[in-house]
Amino acid sequence: MLSCFATETREKVCPITIIVEGKFDDWLHGQPQYTQTFLKEMDFHATAETFCILTNAEGVREQVFFGVKVEYDLRSLARLPLALPPGYYRLNEDFKPLVIQHALIYWGMGAYQFTRYKKANRLPSVLILPRTSDAALIENIVESVCFARDFINTPAEDMTPMDLAEAMVELASEYHASVNQIADEELLEENFPAIFTVGRASESIPRLIDFYWGEEHLPKITLVGKGVCFDTGGLDLKQAAGMILMKKDMGGSAHAIALARMIMQENLPVCLRVLIPAVENSVSGDAYRPGDVITMRNGKTVEIFNTDAEGRLVLADALTEASSESPELLIDFGTLTGAARVALGPEIANMFTDDDELAKSLMQFSNAEYDHLWRMPLFASYRKYLDSLVADLRNCSDQPFAGSVTAALFLKEFVKPGVTWAHFDMSGWSFDNRPGHPIGGDVLAIRAIFMYLRDRYSSRH
Ligand code: BES
Ligand code: ZN
Ligand code: ZN
Repeated sequence: MLSCFATETREKVCPITIIVEGKFDDWLHGQPQYTQTFLKEMDFHATAETFCILTNAEGVREQVFFGVKVEYDLRSLARLPLALPPGYYRLNEDFKPLVIQHALIYWGMGAYQFTRYKKANRLPSVLILPRTSDAALIENIVESVCFARDFINTPAEDMTPMDLAEAMVELASEYHASVNQIADEELLEENFPAIFTVGRASESIPRLIDFYWGEEHLPKITLVGKGVCFDTGGLDLKQAAGMILMKKDMGGSAHAIALARMIMQENLPVCLRVLIPAVENSVSGDAYRPGDVITMRNGKTVEIFNTDAEGRLVLADALTEASSESPELLIDFGTLTGAARVALGPEIANMFTDDDELAKSLMQFSNAEYDHLWRMPLFASYRKYLDSLVADLRNCSDQPFAGSVTAALFLKEFVKPGVTWAHFDMSGWSFDNRPGHPIGGDVLAIRAIFMYLRDRYSSRH
């Protein structure tokens, strides 16, 4: 069990009373005189995201009062696990079960601290999970999100393509999954030219990590994630400001792996495949160059217009392989373009799919889970921006237009027609310390996708 949750009731558990900001005055009238005086003395008005701790005559914590904007959204509770004094707390349960469920998930996500290189500032406060809550589901979601954040936050020195592969082997052993790897020159022998070419300049050899779980007769779901463990930009080198966060360029793989973890932990009746092209986009005498032409796994030729548009290249070979099996659903994730975050900011994933039904369903789950994504168009007319004089297409546009759209159109060239495919382009980083999303590596869309898959495939719901 995560250290921010407990299931058993302890002797000393402090209740958290949630008060809607606009209803504070009415609420206060109904309280004992001592509470009224105390809160007035403390100048507490239940302003959203503020709290006040009431102590008894012995000075012992008796109750926490916490202000929220509306009674149907308690996600701001994510502020509490690292703000309340350490100890055990419980919620007063007069809220709708789904509202409570999101409050608990956000409590868990708000308790996250990256502790690999620096001791935690403090222990999170512990919330007793209400008996009516689905503890297994909440833990699964929170643990998987934190697993992905640890991945993204780990610097490139300790998260090489090999480290990424080792982490996947470890995960596989936990869930009786299997992993196959194709590394270095083998990538050429097995016809993954783009993965090899992008990754060959690095001392850390490129590889394709192929992860399998579940029985073959079940519906096949394939997840693909961009695993660029560091993106210098290659010979089209990034400047310092653009490079500083590029340890997060394997964020797509973190999304795919964390979603896989959710699916396996839930034991969804699906046959899962996760394909991670893991490379470092590095600079050396052996680096691929602007103007080079790569013959991709599916036979199409690609002119390299910019070596910094590397993610789509490695994803392309993986998508060709993934779609060759015609899975029921193919989803890829990547920190693919700066343009995605220019379009929607860092809190909303760009979603691309030609399947209207899938888009509609995912939007519904996105709204229900507060896990934000927004559909962007696979606008065919912009395919012209990828035209090349010397090859079937080039890896990026020379125009500063609709960058996440042209990247998605590039990927589409490598997905077998007829396969239901969705592509997610996101920043992989939380820039502001908003509730449940501390600054650092972060994931979008996978909670929504998981709840969609759970609804679609699980017999229990
Ligand atoms: N990894 C970057 C995209 C990125 C940059 C994601 C910043 C999040 C934040 C990707 O490989 C890249 O460099 N893309 C280029 C594409 C361009 C050369 C067409 C970009 O977005 O500038
Ligand atoms: Zn790049
Ligand atoms: Zn990149």
